Amino acid sequence: MTASLRLAVLISGNGSNLQAIIDAIEGGRLDAEIDVVVSNNPNAFGLERAARHGLQTRVVEDGDYDSRAAFDAALRACLDEFEPDYLVLAGFMRILGPAFIDAFADRILNIHPSLLPAYKGLDTHQRALDNGDTRHGVSIHLVTAELDGGPVILQGAYSIEPGDSATDLQQKGHRLEHEMYPQVLYWLGKGDLRIDNGQIFFQQRPLDAPLVYQS
Ligand code: GRF
Repeated sequence: MTASLRLAVLISGNGSNLQAIIDAIEGGRLDAEIDVVVSNNPNAFGLERAARHGLQTRVVEDGDYDSRAAFDAALRACLDEFEPDYLVLAGFMRILGPAFIDAFADRILNIHPSLLPAYKGLDTHQRALDNGDTRHGVSIHLVTAELDGGPVILQGAYSIEPGDSATDLQQKGHRLEHEMYPQVLYWLGKGDLRIDNGQIFFQQRPLDAPLVYQS
C-alpha cells in the first residue's frame, strides 16, 4: 500500500529530526514514506542514518556550484526525480532562492529552534541566554522567500532555568522537535492540516496564530 504522504527530507548534519520521522514511520505512527534524503554536506551523519534504514540518498554539494541559482537548479532537478509531496527541511543549513521556493510553493516545511518571529537566523540559544530570556522554543513553519519568515504552523516552548547553557537549551529543543515534526506531518497526511497559497488551514479553519504543542 502506498503511503499517503511522500517526503523528501533535506539535511546538512546530524539528522536527529530525520531519525524521529523515520522512527514515527517505522513505528506505524505516521503514514508517510521518505522517498529521498538529500544533503548539501557529503559528511552529514544523517546520510548514514538514512542508509541504515534503506532510504535513498543524494548529495548536492555546495562547492560544486558557483552560484546559488546553479545550486538551487541542481537541487530541484534532484528532487524532481522523486516527485515528493513535501520537502521537509530538517537542519538544512542552506538558504534557498525565491525561484526554488516558488517551484515548491506551499510544499516546503522547516523547523527552527526559536519561538518565531523571535530569533530568526543562527545561534538562537545563545542569543536567548544573552538576552536573559526565561522561555525559548521551537517553531515549524512554511518556507517562503523571507528567511525564517513564513507562517508558523506549530510552536513548542520550554523554560530556561538558571544555569542552563546553550547546549542545555538545544537538548530541550530537540526533545520537542522530535515529537513536533512527526506530529505536523501526521496532520498533513490526515488532511487536518492544509496549506493553500501561503495560508495554513487547520481542521478547515484558517490558522491566524500558531498551534501550540503540548507534550
Ligand atoms: C535543529 O535543532 C533544527 O531546529 C535546526 O537544525 C537542527 C537540526 O538538528 N534547524 P538535526 O540535524 O535534526 O539533529
